[in-house]
Amino acid sequence: MSERTLAIIKPDAVKKKVIGDIIARYEAVNLKPIAMRMLSLSKAAAEGFYAVHRHRPFFDSLTTFMSSGPVVVLVLAGDDAIKRHRELMGATDPAKADQGTIRALHGTSIEYNAVHGSDSPDTARFEIGYFFSEMELAVR
Ligand code: RTP
Ligand code: MG
Repeated sequence: MSERTLAIIKPDAVKKKVIGDIIARYEAVNLKPIAMRMLSLSKAAAEGFYAVHRHRPFFDSLTTFMSSGPVVVLVLAGDDAIKRHRELMGATDPAKADQGTIRALHGTSIEYNAVHGSDSPDTARFEIGYFFSEMELAVR
């Protein structure tokens, strides 16, 4: 079943000049970009996006990192997109991520881990709506 998920190419990956490499990896496995934008998150916007983590010890550090430079936000569509995207990303900690995953290749620490991906249909709905309007999602 075709599904949509939200991906973010995080500030560390933008600084490393691997935007193109990461998008090529999505396309190679038929995770099709249907909406995409570069922007710089304010601290407040990063806090709103990661609100589920507001009580976690890493929340301030995470939202400072996510607002430290431009990011690329994109919606990927494809069969089983949420789970397949998470597999392509690899484990949160790049040191534990499987070989060949985006985080193993481009992540540098558990925080600077190159990419974000929605983890459930409900999360995907919230996260896609956080950045994109219905009109921007009308690509088929
Ligand atoms: P994401 O939401 O970014 O796709 O990552 P995830 O599901 O693999 O991991 P999650 O538990 O949702 O954590 C969100 C982001 O917070 C940073 N983090 N830092 N210092 C730490 O122990 C720690 N743990 C997580 C990472 O940037 C992680 O991706
Ligand atoms: Mg997460």
